[in-house]
Amino acid sequence: KRIAIFASGSGSNFEAIAKASVWSDAYEVVLLFSDRPEAYALNRAEQLGIEAQVYEPSHYPDKRSYEADILALLIRHRVDLVVLAGYMRLVGETLLQPYQNRIINIHPSLLPLFPGLHAIENAIDVGASQTGVTIHYVDEGMDTGPIISQESIPIEPADTYDTLKEKIQKIEHRLYPETIEQMVRKDELFVKTSLTERI
Ligand code: GRF
Repeated sequence: KRIAIFASGSGSNFEAIAKASVWSDAYEVVLLFSDRPEAYALNRAEQLGIEAQVYEPSHYPDKRSYEADILALLIRHRVDLVVLAGYMRLVGETLLQPYQNRIINIHPSLLPLFPGLHAIENAIDVGASQTGVTIHYVDEGMDTGPIISQESIPIEPADTYDTLKEKIQKIEHRLYPETIEQMVRKDELFVKTSLTERI
């Protein structure tokens, strides 16, 4: 299957998935998409020899036209699965409808606990004894959508934001490629209809 990864920032998950894909005959990363020209993920794409495209939302009159251009890009690249990895925008109908059940996201908490931008800080602040990582289908909400996989991790008394973030990212970099591999091998999602039939 052909995968596009969407990233707004560092792109460490993008890099982990791209590196893992080399060992997989089930999927390949054909595109990095970003909404921010300064995203470090773009440097990683260049290093990895993966095509990168940046579309800036401010160049569009509205979200619908922005996403229509992204959709055209995905169709040109024959993308089967969209993987959000630190993509800091809510995905709208224009992309969700044609890519129903084919857009996934990773979040640094055990959803439905601690959705939103400050998941790691929030878990520490409330004194939670554990947190974790969730991979889920994307819908129109923020960090909602059916859960695909989860892994928990204890929060130690000595943990700070930095130590916990490091532990969480270590899990993410393993769990995301593993989950993608399992998803694309579970073929029933992908074989029934081709993309062109759904648009
Ligand atoms: C990850 O921690 C992910 O859970 C969250 O955003 C972060 C992205 O990190 N959605 P990176 O850009 O992949 O390094």
